[in-house]
Amino acid sequence: MKQRHDRARGPARLVLGLMSGTSADGIDVALVRIPPGPAGSRRARLENFTTLDFPRDVRAAVLRLAEGAPTTTQELSRLNVRLGQVFAQAALAACRKFRVSPQRIELIGSHGQTVYHQGIPSRFLGARAGSTLQIGEPAVIAAETGITTVADFRPADMAVGGQGAPLVPWVDHLLYRDSRRGRAALNIGGIANLTVIPRAARPGQVFAFDTGPGNMVADGLVRYFTRGRRQYDRDAQMARRGRLLPALLDKLLADPYFRLRPPKTAGREQYGAACVQRILDWGRRHRARPEDLVRTATLLTAYCREHVFTS
Ligand SMILES: Nc1ncnc2c1ncn2[C@@H]1O[C@H](COP(=O)(O)OP(=O)(O)O)[C@@H](O)[C@H]1O
Ligand SMILES: [Mg+2]
Repeated sequence: MKQRHDRARGPARLVLGLMSGTSADGIDVALVRIPPGPAGSRRARLENFTTLDFPRDVRAAVLRLAEGAPTTTQELSRLNVRLGQVFAQAALAACRKFRVSPQRIELIGSHGQTVYHQGIPSRFLGARAGSTLQIGEPAVIAAETGITTVADFRPADMAVGGQGAPLVPWVDHLLYRDSRRGRAALNIGGIANLTVIPRAARPGQVFAFDTGPGNMVADGLVRYFTRGRRQYDRDAQMARRGRLLPALLDKLLADPYFRLRPPKTAGREQYGAACVQRILDWGRRHRARPEDLVRTATLLTAYCREHVFTS
């Protein structure tokens, strides 16, 4: 790869972005080229992208903690370091795959793995506090890769009054703002979030919120029905064979989350194991077929969005 030089303003920067979302389906690594220029007018370009697998036992531990399973400070602390190692190895493996030397990378931005998130503050030990915790120790990433690493974006957002999520709107504004057209960007991961960028929007006019479940509910059902052999419903193979269960869909759409006004954030607390268990219980009572439950969970993702705008 040839480095493009703008002598008047310095070289373009190569940055690696590391991300693992609520699905913990893998470590996304993006190689981004950021041309010189004032912040805000920068046109970042995606040079390359790959997703690397978590070691199986590491993923299982992450999912357990993110579900709020009982843990110890020892386990949390050790998993923080172990994940840092895994992220560092992912960054180095991605560099090999992209055929770019780690020495050429100026910076790693690591989101970390969210294991707890409470966006709306509540009273705690005499004061109001919200909190969010991403693990995957950045000091380990920096040491193992030799690349300066920045992290803790979500706590930083909360420290100045944000809800710590979604963080995508700022970048969506940079990338998709248009002087003639309003745009909306929808990202369906484990949880789905929407950014609305009005025509010629200034940063403060952009708004964003989590619409609710993305793939998380369907993923959980598929994992249960296949006893962990499949992690998600690839290309909706199962949902396509099923039929919508209107009574179940209505029940799921009665979730008060859908009636909350944005901004709002959702997570595994709402749509993780407990939600999947409620659907399985309902399915047992009504003798529902697995594929019908998976189809209904899949359609929930589509319908809750419509609900957001009609309520
Ligand atoms: N071919 C596919 N068919 C159906 N679902 C898919 C497919 N590929 C990925 N997914 C879904 O996308 C999810 C991962 O998306 P991602 O944007 O990485 O989410 P997150 O940010 O929550 O990790 C997986 O959990 C899976 O449900
Ligand atoms: Mg992911």
